[in-house]
Amino acid sequence: MNSDLQRQMKQAAARRALSLVKDGMVLGLGTGSTTAYFIQYLGEALASGTIKHIRGVPTSEQTAQQARALNIPLTTLDDVSYLDLAIDGADEVDPALRLIKGLGKALLREKLVEVHAREFWVIVDETKLTPRLGTHVPLPVEILPFAASATVRWLNALPDCRAELWRREDNGEPWVTDNGHFLARCWFEQGIQDPQALSDTLLGWPGVMEHGLFLGMATGVIVARGDGVQMYQDHIPIHANRSNS
Ligand code: A5P
Repeated sequence: MNSDLQRQMKQAAARRALSLVKDGMVLGLGTGSTTAYFIQYLGEALASGTIKHIRGVPTSEQTAQQARALNIPLTTLDDVSYLDLAIDGADEVDPALRLIKGLGKALLREKLVEVHAREFWVIVDETKLTPRLGTHVPLPVEILPFAASATVRWLNALPDCRAELWRREDNGEPWVTDNGHFLARCWFEQGIQDPQALSDTLLGWPGVMEHGLFLGMATGVIVARGDGVQMYQDHIPIHANRSNS
Protein backbone atom coordinates (compact mmCIF):
# COMPACT_ATOMS: atom_id res chain seq x y z
CA MET A 1 0.00 0.00 0.00
CA ASN A 2 1.29 3.46 -0.76
CA SER A 3 2.46 5.30 2.33
CA ASP A 4 0.43 8.45 1.63
CA LEU A 5 -2.77 6.43 1.60
CA GLN A 6 -1.76 4.60 4.76
CA ARG A 7 -1.01 7.91 6.50
CA GLN A 8 -4.40 9.26 5.46
CA MET A 9 -6.09 6.13 6.84
CA LYS A 10 -4.24 6.42 10.16
CA GLN A 11 -5.32 10.05 10.35
CA ALA A 12 -8.94 9.15 9.55
CA ALA A 13 -9.02 6.50 12.31
CA ALA A 14 -7.47 8.96 14.77
CA ARG A 15 -10.03 11.65 13.89
CA ARG A 16 -12.88 9.24 14.47
CA ALA A 17 -11.43 8.34 17.87
CA LEU A 18 -11.42 12.00 18.82
CA SER A 19 -15.22 11.99 18.45
CA LEU A 20 -15.36 9.58 21.44
CA VAL A 21 -13.68 12.10 23.73
CA LYS A 22 -15.93 14.13 26.03
CA ASP A 23 -15.10 17.07 28.29
CA GLY A 24 -13.58 16.08 31.64
CA MET A 25 -12.45 12.59 30.63
CA VAL A 26 -9.32 10.88 31.89
CA LEU A 27 -7.73 9.29 28.84
CA GLY A 28 -5.21 6.53 28.28
CA LEU A 29 -2.83 7.74 25.60
CA GLY A 30 -1.33 4.94 23.52
CA THR A 31 1.96 4.77 21.66
CA GLY A 32 2.80 4.57 17.96
CA SER A 33 2.36 6.47 14.74
CA THR A 34 -1.46 6.15 14.57
CA THR A 35 -1.95 7.23 18.16
CA ALA A 36 0.45 10.12 17.58
CA TYR A 37 -2.15 11.58 15.19
CA PHE A 38 -4.84 11.16 17.85
CA ILE A 39 -2.68 12.95 20.41
CA GLN A 40 -1.97 15.72 17.91
CA TYR A 41 -5.72 16.21 17.23
CA LEU A 42 -6.46 16.08 20.96
CA GLY A 43 -3.87 18.81 21.59
CA GLU A 44 -5.40 20.93 18.85
CA ALA A 45 -8.91 20.45 20.26
CA LEU A 46 -7.74 21.45 23.75
CA ALA A 47 -5.94 24.50 22.38
CA SER A 48 -9.01 25.65 20.45
CA GLY A 49 -11.34 24.93 23.39
CA THR A 50 -13.55 22.44 21.53
CA ILE A 51 -12.61 19.85 24.20
CA LYS A 52 -11.97 20.84 27.83
CA HIS A 53 -10.57 19.52 31.12
CA ILE A 54 -8.89 16.37 29.82
CA ARG A 55 -6.16 14.53 31.64
CA GLY A 56 -4.07 11.86 29.97
CA VAL A 57 -2.14 8.84 31.23
CA PRO A 58 0.68 8.17 28.75
CA THR A 59 1.77 4.63 27.90
CA SER A 60 5.40 5.55 27.11
CA GLU A 61 7.99 8.26 27.61
CA GLN A 62 7.65 9.06 23.92
CA THR A 63 3.91 9.67 24.27
CA ALA A 64 4.42 11.70 27.46
CA GLN A 65 6.88 13.90 25.60
CA GLN A 66 4.46 14.51 22.72
CA ALA A 67 1.58 15.23 25.11
CA ARG A 68 3.66 17.70 27.14
CA ALA A 69 4.72 19.50 23.96
CA LEU A 70 1.01 19.93 23.12
CA ASN A 71 0.11 21.08 26.66
CA ILE A 72 -2.09 18.05 27.31
CA PRO A 73 -2.32 17.73 31.12
CA LEU A 74 -0.94 14.40 32.32
CA THR A 75 -1.67 12.28 35.34
CA THR A 76 -0.70 8.78 36.49
CA LEU A 77 -2.39 5.51 37.37
CA ASP A 78 -1.37 6.17 40.96
CA ASP A 79 -3.51 9.31 41.02
CA VAL A 80 -6.66 8.13 39.24
CA SER A 81 -8.55 4.93 39.95
CA TYR A 82 -9.81 4.39 36.39
CA LEU A 83 -9.69 5.87 32.91
CA ASP A 84 -12.83 6.82 30.99
CA LEU A 85 -11.33 5.92 27.66
CA ALA A 86 -8.05 4.64 26.24
CA ILE A 87 -7.04 5.03 22.60
CA ASP A 88 -4.18 3.05 21.08
CA GLY A 89 -3.00 1.48 17.84
CA ALA A 90 -2.20 -2.17 17.20
CA ASP A 91 0.15 -4.22 15.06
CA GLU A 92 -2.44 -6.89 14.21
CA VAL A 93 -6.16 -7.28 14.84
CA ASP A 94 -8.11 -10.51 14.31
CA PRO A 95 -11.86 -10.96 13.68
CA ALA A 96 -12.54 -11.40 17.44
CA LEU A 97 -10.90 -8.02 18.24
CA ARG A 98 -7.84 -9.72 19.70
CA LEU A 99 -4.61 -7.81 19.20
CA ILE A 100 -0.88 -8.06 18.84
CA LYS A 101 0.70 -4.91 20.18
CA GLY A 102 4.16 -3.82 21.19
CA LEU A 103 6.19 -3.39 18.03
CA GLY A 104 6.49 0.19 19.28
CA LYS A 105 8.19 -1.35 22.36
CA ALA A 106 5.64 -0.04 24.85
CA LEU A 107 3.47 -3.10 25.42
CA LEU A 108 3.80 -3.44 29.20
CA ARG A 109 2.74 0.11 30.03
CA GLU A 110 0.10 -0.02 27.30
CA LYS A 111 -1.45 -3.13 28.83
CA LEU A 112 -1.25 -1.81 32.37
CA VAL A 113 -2.86 1.50 31.39
CA GLU A 114 -5.50 -0.06 29.15
CA VAL A 115 -6.76 -2.58 31.70
CA HIS A 116 -7.78 0.44 33.78
CA ALA A 117 -9.95 1.88 31.00
CA ARG A 118 -13.74 1.63 31.03
CA GLU A 119 -13.52 1.72 27.24
CA PHE A 120 -10.49 0.82 25.16
CA TRP A 121 -10.77 1.71 21.49
CA VAL A 122 -8.14 0.57 19.01
CA ILE A 123 -7.35 2.64 15.93
CA VAL A 124 -5.91 0.93 12.86
CA ASP A 125 -5.74 1.12 9.12
CA GLU A 126 -6.91 -1.94 7.23
CA THR A 127 -3.37 -3.32 6.77
CA LYS A 128 -3.43 -4.38 10.43
CA LEU A 129 -6.34 -6.80 9.96
CA THR A 130 -5.55 -10.51 9.83
CA PRO A 131 -7.61 -13.71 10.03
CA ARG A 132 -5.05 -15.15 12.50
CA LEU A 133 -2.73 -13.33 14.89
CA GLY A 134 0.98 -13.74 14.30
CA THR A 135 0.62 -14.34 10.59
CA HIS A 136 2.30 -11.11 9.47
CA VAL A 137 4.19 -9.78 12.47
CA PRO A 138 6.21 -11.33 15.30
CA LEU A 139 4.85 -11.33 18.82
CA PRO A 140 6.91 -9.02 21.06
CA VAL A 141 7.61 -10.29 24.57
CA GLU A 142 9.07 -8.08 27.31
CA ILE A 143 11.68 -10.04 29.28
CA LEU A 144 13.90 -9.55 32.29
CA PRO A 145 17.51 -8.67 31.30
CA PHE A 146 18.74 -11.15 33.93
CA ALA A 147 19.16 -14.48 32.14
CA ALA A 148 17.71 -13.00 28.95
CA SER A 149 19.44 -15.62 26.78
CA ALA A 150 17.93 -18.37 28.92
CA THR A 151 14.47 -16.85 28.49
CA VAL A 152 14.94 -16.58 24.72
CA ARG A 153 16.07 -20.24 24.71
CA TRP A 154 12.89 -21.16 26.58
CA LEU A 155 10.78 -19.19 24.08
CA ASN A 156 12.48 -21.00 21.21
CA ALA A 157 11.47 -24.32 22.72
CA LEU A 158 7.77 -23.42 22.59
CA PRO A 159 5.87 -25.29 19.85
CA ASP A 160 6.25 -23.64 16.42
CA CYS A 161 8.03 -20.63 17.91
CA ARG A 162 11.21 -19.03 16.60
CA ALA A 163 12.41 -16.39 19.01
CA GLU A 164 15.29 -13.95 19.18
CA LEU A 165 16.38 -11.09 21.37
CA TRP A 166 15.32 -7.81 19.72
CA ARG A 167 18.46 -5.78 19.05
CA ARG A 168 18.94 -2.22 17.85
CA GLU A 169 19.87 -1.87 14.19
CA ASP A 170 22.41 0.91 14.89
CA ASN A 171 24.68 -0.74 17.48
CA GLY A 172 23.46 -4.31 17.91
CA GLU A 173 22.67 -3.77 21.59
CA PRO A 174 19.36 -5.09 22.97
CA TRP A 175 16.48 -2.63 22.95
CA VAL A 176 15.76 -1.47 26.47
CA THR A 177 12.15 -0.59 27.27
CA ASP A 178 10.96 2.35 29.40
CA ASN A 179 10.84 -0.19 32.23
CA GLY A 180 14.50 -1.21 31.87
CA HIS A 181 13.64 -4.60 30.37
CA PHE A 182 14.64 -6.29 27.09
CA LEU A 183 12.33 -7.49 24.34
CA ALA A 184 12.20 -10.74 22.41
CA ARG A 185 10.35 -11.28 19.15
CA CYS A 186 8.59 -14.57 18.45
CA TRP A 187 7.66 -15.71 14.97
CA PHE A 188 5.04 -18.41 14.37
CA GLU A 189 5.15 -19.82 10.88
CA GLN A 190 1.48 -20.76 10.79
CA GLY A 191 0.38 -17.87 12.99
CA ILE A 192 -0.70 -18.30 16.61
CA GLN A 193 -3.08 -21.26 16.86
CA ASP A 194 -4.39 -20.60 20.37
CA PRO A 195 -3.65 -17.06 21.64
CA GLN A 196 -5.12 -17.66 25.11
CA ALA A 197 -3.08 -20.82 25.68
CA LEU A 198 0.08 -19.05 24.50
CA SER A 199 -0.66 -16.10 26.79
CA ASP A 200 -1.08 -18.42 29.78
CA THR A 201 2.15 -20.25 28.96
CA LEU A 202 4.17 -17.05 28.56
CA LEU A 203 2.88 -15.51 31.78
CA GLY A 204 3.81 -18.68 33.65
CA TRP A 205 7.52 -18.18 32.99
CA PRO A 206 9.47 -16.09 35.54
CA GLY A 207 11.67 -14.29 32.99
CA VAL A 208 8.66 -13.04 31.00
CA MET A 209 7.42 -9.67 32.23
CA GLU A 210 4.54 -9.27 29.75
CA HIS A 211 3.68 -10.08 26.15
CA GLY A 212 1.98 -8.34 23.24
CA LEU A 213 -1.21 -10.43 23.06
CA PHE A 214 -4.11 -8.20 24.14
CA LEU A 215 -7.01 -10.61 24.51
CA GLY A 216 -10.53 -9.61 25.50
CA MET A 217 -9.39 -6.07 26.17
CA ALA A 218 -10.66 -3.98 23.25
CA THR A 219 -14.13 -2.43 23.58
CA GLY A 220 -14.03 -1.72 19.88
CA VAL A 221 -11.82 -1.24 16.85
CA ILE A 222 -11.92 1.74 14.52
CA VAL A 223 -10.77 0.57 11.10
CA ALA A 224 -9.88 3.02 8.35
CA ARG A 225 -10.11 1.63 4.85
CA GLY A 226 -9.60 3.29 1.49
CA ASP A 227 -13.34 3.85 1.25
CA GLY A 228 -14.10 5.07 4.77
CA VAL A 229 -13.93 4.42 8.49
CA GLN A 230 -15.92 1.79 10.38
CA MET A 231 -16.30 0.98 14.06
CA TYR A 232 -16.61 -2.63 15.19
CA GLN A 233 -17.52 -3.94 18.63
CA ASP A 234 -17.94 -7.69 18.33
CA HIS A 235 -16.79 -9.17 15.04
CA ILE A 236 -14.66 -7.77 12.23
CA PRO A 237 -15.13 -9.33 8.80
CA ILE A 238 -11.58 -10.06 7.64
CA HIS A 239 -10.57 -11.85 4.46
CA ALA A 240 -7.46 -13.96 4.15
CA ASN A 241 -5.89 -11.94 1.32
CA ARG A 242 -4.30 -9.11 3.28
CA SER A 243 -2.28 -7.07 0.82
CA ASN A 244 0.33 -5.16 2.78
CA SER A 245 2.84 -7.84 3.56
C1 A5P B 1 3.39 0.30 20.62
O1 A5P B 1 4.14 -0.46 21.51
C2 A5P B 1 2.48 -0.55 19.82
O2 A5P B 1 1.67 -1.38 20.56
C3 A5P B 1 1.68 0.28 18.85
O3 A5P B 1 0.41 0.56 19.32
C4 A5P B 1 1.61 -0.47 17.60
O4 A5P B 1 2.94 -0.82 17.28
C5 A5P B 1 0.96 0.31 16.47
O5 A5P B 1 1.80 1.31 16.03
P1 A5P B 1 1.53 2.12 14.69
O6 A5P B 1 0.29 2.91 14.92
O7 A5P B 1 2.76 2.98 14.54
O8 A5P B 1 1.42 1.12 13.61
